[in-house]
Amino acid sequence: MKILAIETSCDETAVAIVEDGRKIISNTVASSFKLHLKTGGIIPEIAARQQVKYIIPVIHEALDKKKLSDIDILAITVGPGLNGSLLVGTEAAKTIAFVTGKPVIPVNHVIAHIYANWLDNNTVIEFPAIALVVSGGHTELFLMTSETKLKWLGGTRDDAAGEAFDKTARLLGLGFPGGPAIAACAAQYQISNIKYQKYKIRLPRPMMNDDNLDFSFSGLKTAVMREVIKLKSNQQFSNLVIQQLSYEIQESITDVLVSKTLKAATKFKAKSILLGGGVAANKRLSEKLKLGIGNWELGINLYIPPPNLCTDNAAYIASYAYFHNKPIPWQKIQAQPDLGVEV
Ligand code: KG4
Ligand code: ZN
Repeated sequence: MKILAIETSCDETAVAIVEDGRKIISNTVASSFKLHLKTGGIIPEIAARQQVKYIIPVIHEALDKKKLSDIDILAITVGPGLNGSLLVGTEAAKTIAFVTGKPVIPVNHVIAHIYANWLDNNTVIEFPAIALVVSGGHTELFLMTSETKLKWLGGTRDDAAGEAFDKTARLLGLGFPGGPAIAACAAQYQISNIKYQKYKIRLPRPMMNDDNLDFSFSGLKTAVMREVIKLKSNQQFSNLVIQQLSYEIQESITDVLVSKTLKAATKFKAKSILLGGGVAANKRLSEKLKLGIGNWELGINLYIPPPNLCTDNAAYIASYAYFHNKPIPWQKIQAQPDLGVEV
C-alpha cells in the first residue's frame, strides 16, 4: 500500500511516499528555517507564507515520475502546530482527495514522530515499548503495547526539551536552532577544554527525582539567564565559559530525559525504547541512554531513527497512517493547532 503524506505543521513543507509503512519511496523537505535565523525563532506568518510557496513544488518533486493514480491513500498532519502552516497542508490534501476520490487519514504530528522507527527498517520491534518524543514543542512519554496501541504517560509542564535548547542557545548567542548549536559548542568543551577548571557551573536537573513521568525545563532557562547576566556583569562571558555552559545545559537536559525514560521503562517492564523528534538526534542523549540501559542491566533494545528522520518530515506521517489506517471524509479534515497527545 502506497501512502502519500503531507506535513506542514511548522516551518517545514514536507511530502513523502511510503510503501507498507516502512519503505521510503520519496521524502522531500523544503524548509523556511533560514528566513527565521535573523529573528532567532519561527515567525508564524512568515512560515505560513513559505508553506504556500513550497507546497505545490514539493508535492511535485515527491511524486517524481509517479502519478497520483499510483497512490492508494493520502495522509495529512492535522495538528498540533501553527494554524497558518497547518491550513496550507490540510487544504492541499483536501483538494487532492476531492479531485482523485482517494481516502484521507488525519495524523497527529507528535505521536507520528515515533513511527520514524519503522522506516527503512525491517526489525521487529518488541512490546511493551516506551516511546519518548522530544521535539521543539513537545516532550512526551508513551507506553506502546502494540504498533497501534499507545497510552500517554507524561509530558512537559512548561517548556519542551527542544525549546530549552533553543532558548538557552539564544541566551548564549549561539543562534537557531539551539539543539545542534549547543551540542557543537559542548563538543568543543569536551575536546579542548576538559582541563579548564577556573569556571564551574552546576545547573539544576528539574523534576529528575520526582516520582512521576512529567518534565519541566523552564527553570533551567531561568538558571542560565541568571548565570549569563552575572557573567556578563563580571566580564567573564568568554568563549570558554560559553562552551562549558553549553556542556552543562546538554548534560542537564539529557540527564532528565534519560532518567525519566528509564524510570518508565523499568515501571512497565519495557522490551524496547523508541525515540522520535528533533532532540532524538542528540548524540549525548543516545550515548547516555545506551549506558543507562547497560548499567541497569535492563536488556532493552534502543531504537533511534537517523537524524534526517528524527527532524520533521512526512515519511513518518505516512508510516503512522499505515498503522492507524482510519480514513475520514475529506470534508471532515481540518487543521487542529491545539490537538492534544493524551491518548
Ligand atoms: O521535531 P523537530 O524537527 O520539530 C518540531 O516538531 O519541533 O524538532 C526541532 C527541535 C529544535 O528545538 C532543535 O533545537 C532540536 O529539535 N534539535 C536538537 C538537535 N537537532 C535538532 N536538539 C539537540 N540536539 C540535536 N542534535
Ligand atoms: Zn516535529
